[in-house]
Amino acid sequence: MNFLITGGAGFIGGNYCHYAVEKYPQHHFICFDALTYAGNLETLEPIMNKPNFTFVKGDISNAEDVENVFGKFDIHYVINFAAESHVDRSILDPGLFLKTNILGTQVLMDACIRHKTIRFHQVSTDEVYGDLPLDRPDLLFTEKTPLNPSSPYSVSKTSADLLALAYHRTYGLNVTISRCSNNYGPYQFPEKLIPLIIDRALHNKPLPVYGNGLNVRDWLHVYDHCTAIDAIVTKGKTGEIYNIGGHNERANIDVVKTILDVLDKPYSLIEYVKDRPGHDARYAMDPTKIRTELGWDPVYTFEKGIVPTVQWNIDNRKWIENIQSGEYLNFMRRQYGD
Ligand code: NAD
Ligand code: DAU
Repeated sequence: MNFLITGGAGFIGGNYCHYAVEKYPQHHFICFDALTYAGNLETLEPIMNKPNFTFVKGDISNAEDVENVFGKFDIHYVINFAAESHVDRSILDPGLFLKTNILGTQVLMDACIRHKTIRFHQVSTDEVYGDLPLDRPDLLFTEKTPLNPSSPYSVSKTSADLLALAYHRTYGLNVTISRCSNNYGPYQFPEKLIPLIIDRALHNKPLPVYGNGLNVRDWLHVYDHCTAIDAIVTKGKTGEIYNIGGHNERANIDVVKTILDVLDKPYSLIEYVKDRPGHDARYAMDPTKIRTELGWDPVYTFEKGIVPTVQWNIDNRKWIENIQSGEYLNFMRRQYGD
């Protein structure tokens, strides 16, 4: 079977390529990625020469690029990780998010219909549900929670989910959707909270915490996200949505303090800064459906996963420093000031 892994040079797609190329030597994985600021071929170096892996540069919102890759390989499965993924960037530049995340998904699904692809899997997010109140720890997002996205990023992901469901109903496309909570682990771009804090703490730089630091995220190690997607693609039912999460809710300030403890750095590095506009208060996933129907379970707690993640960021300084050039510095100045 041939699998098209879009966005496979990014954080989660890259981890998925590593996982799947190793686990399924009998299948061929074609990574299709536009190599935006977030795409990094260095992430794929360990598998680049494997016989069951091929990299193709292309843009999911460009119909010609997509048709070319479908024409060249007989694509049986598509797993769509490709997206603009950073909420803060979506607040600065919403248009690109709508183009990549919505139109890109449409272009891919049109190709799936033309080429009679067996399955299109859309990698989505818990952010489609909006947020939960901080004073109701009993509430969790289920697959039936109404969609109520807050940021341009989450609206673009919600739109893509709805389009995927419409393609399933209208054209009979075999579609599954996964909605995962916040990921962390190796190869994460250092604009996201955890790798940003690790990098800045290592340099003894101030650590920007938005607002009062009490917003809650539900953290899942990227390895567990990969095994969940694998379970859905191989065992999930067409037209179904699966929430992914591992009950690892933490307030942002506690995440930052945990990282400082692991690094043995002082809390005095923490700096409370202007809040993110429209900042979602709390995310928390109910993964009962994927656990009971597909037998999936995560292997990492936050405490178990954060230590090797900090260590990975220490051991892979070159990977991080190679990113911290022109485009990255421009965004950091726009987002945080000088
Ligand atoms: P990322 O920003 O690290 O990587 C995105 C990848 O997509 C990059 O390699 C980039 O080059 C590629 N890409 C962007 N636009 C493209 C285009 N037009 N055509 C082809 N490739 C393009 O993102 P990530 O954190 O790895 O997220 C991957 C997916 O998982 C996204 O769909 C995101 O919405 C979803 N998700 C992320 C998280 C998280 O915590 N990071 C959680 C749940 C869901
Ligand atoms: O929940 C899943 C989502 O998680 C994914 O769909 C997104 O692609 C991914 O980027 C992530 O979104 P968040 O906005 O939750 O992640 P981020 O790492 O940007 O921020 C995590 C929390 O930390 C959030 O409450 C904002 C806060 N934060 C973030 C940054 C970058 C800070 O306090 N300071 C910062 O500098």
